[in-house]
Amino acid sequence: MNKQILSIIKKYEGKKGSAIPILQDVQGIAGYISKDSIRFISEHTGIPSAELYGIVTFYSMFRLEPQGRHLIRICKGTACHVSGADNLGSMLKTILKLKGDQTTTEDGRFTLIEVACLGCCSLAPVIMVNEDTYGKLSSDKLEKILNKYE
Ligand code: FES
Repeated sequence: MNKQILSIIKKYEGKKGSAIPILQDVQGIAGYISKDSIRFISEHTGIPSAELYGIVTFYSMFRLEPQGRHLIRICKGTACHVSGADNLGSMLKTILKLKGDQTTTEDGRFTLIEVACLGCCSLAPVIMVNEDTYGKLSSDKLEKILNKYE
């Protein structure tokens, strides 16, 4: 993996604002950004680990842990919150059999994460599965939606 990361770093060598593209490429290979990868990128680019970690935790497109085959983003923004996002989130966790802080299903099919806003507040409450947006959701629609994803 480190050899691949070195090759990515070389690709962006001398370019301003390379942190995000480097992280995107690393995630593209590994599926997530490990803490070891952050340390390695920092050591070989001079970008402080704290800055890289800040980027990875700020942008919802980055993940610090491996994820399932399908990523479910549930919006917990204000419009979705007042439209029942908490209840929807509980239903999703029940359907996916996620316990406690667990975010990825046992079979590796889904990862569920919460995001601040998906940018389509008029459709609240909203989830995204991969790049597909589902709005004006109620709990009875969830299983039908999830069944579309193998
Ligand atoms: S608050 Fe949910 S999409 Fe904006």
